[in-house]
Amino acid sequence: MKSYTNIDLSKYHTFHVASRATALVEIESLQQFLTLITNNKLTHPIVILGGGSNVLFKEDWPGTVLINKIQGIDLVGETDDFVSILVHSGTLWDELTAYCASHGYWGIENMSGIPGTCGAAPIQNIGAYGQEVEQVIESVNFFDFKTAECRELKKADCCFGYRDSIFKNELRNRTFIHSIQIKLSKIPTPNVSYPSLAEKLQSVATPELTPVALREAILSIRTNKLPDPDILGNAGSFFKNPIIPLDDYKKLQREFPDIPGFTEMNMVKISAAWLIEKSGWKGVRMGNTGTFHKQPLVLVNYGNATAGEILDLARKIIETVEKKFQIKIEPEVQIY
Ligand code: FAD
Ligand code: EPU
Repeated sequence: MKSYTNIDLSKYHTFHVASRATALVEIESLQQFLTLITNNKLTHPIVILGGGSNVLFKEDWPGTVLINKIQGIDLVGETDDFVSILVHSGTLWDELTAYCASHGYWGIENMSGIPGTCGAAPIQNIGAYGQEVEQVIESVNFFDFKTAECRELKKADCCFGYRDSIFKNELRNRTFIHSIQIKLSKIPTPNVSYPSLAEKLQSVATPELTPVALREAILSIRTNKLPDPDILGNAGSFFKNPIIPLDDYKKLQREFPDIPGFTEMNMVKISAAWLIEKSGWKGVRMGNTGTFHKQPLVLVNYGNATAGEILDLARKIIETVEKKFQIKIEPEVQIY
């Protein structure tokens, strides 16, 4: 366990924006965490960070930042068709996807390359290329700061939705997720429906459909499309794709016939990247920040951006998109 006081947070999150925390503690086991809590050793308020790839600190943190480094992947159940895996929450998500792909376990290969830790995965129900973590979650195990007890929630009680779960709502900022249990298939279940993945596979004469091959295809798509946070600070998609009623979508289609939408029941998910691009914001730089030239959903830090500059850009984008399309896009990134 390592602890620091009055520390610069910029290397603990992928936007790399400067801000400070009163205290920072790196924990490597659940026991360490429970000892700190039981002995009331941490300055409040406490915020948990995994890889810091979905956060923006708009000011200094007046309490403790707890960096979660509790690692480990344990096979806890196996049948002819399935495996159950208990993953300690500080394990890197991409380490898990690599492990599962190499063992021939299906279900998370399309989510290869998502930065951050496994403990954060259920919080916004991470997803990419046609898969979401809710499809494989069996249970989430966490410490509840409010009741001061360890609890388990089964998938059905996690209220998963698109970039949403109970951990962002009712249980917001009151949990420390210490492990998740996932169930993966040993029977091949390739999911190659997502347009850019299908296109990538079509460019190969006889595409190999193994978890490892799909993982590699996804990693290549992502490297071409998204900025590397070590080079250009960012937190992935800054905004969520908005979901609007089908009737509103049909009205918009009359004015903007090529507006991309994905209908589910009587709601339609609209591409926020498209809305932002059509509002004139793709690849625009404003001082030390801007939108990425290949994917305008991603706001970037050109080096010395402040959280204020990033939030100012975000606000301008939200206003322009709302004026043009009457749709209010919302941040995906957790702002502290
Ligand atoms: P952090 O940023 O550290 O934390 C995020 C939130 O979760 C915070 O509120 C934090 O307090 C809370 N939290 C973290 N760990 C715990 C815990 N153990 N217990 C309780 N609360 C916790 N996301 C996608 O869904 N799909 C993508 O394709 C995708 N691509 C990305 C690409 C890039 C280049 C980047 C930078 C980000 C991308 N993201 C994507 C967003 C991000 O990777 C995910 O949200 C990821 O799950 C965040 O993990 P983290 O460990 O970095 O969480
Ligand atoms: N598009 C544009 N202009 C662009 C880029 C995209 O108009 O510059 C439009 C196109 O119509 C394209 C569509 O947007 O077909 C979808 O683009 P993409 O496949 O890049 O997906 P996205 O909806 O922009 C979402 C997630 C990503 C995830 C990808 C792949 C959200 C907010 N973002 O992006 O997740 O990797 O799908 O599944 O849902 C993240 O959450 O941080 C993240 C990166």
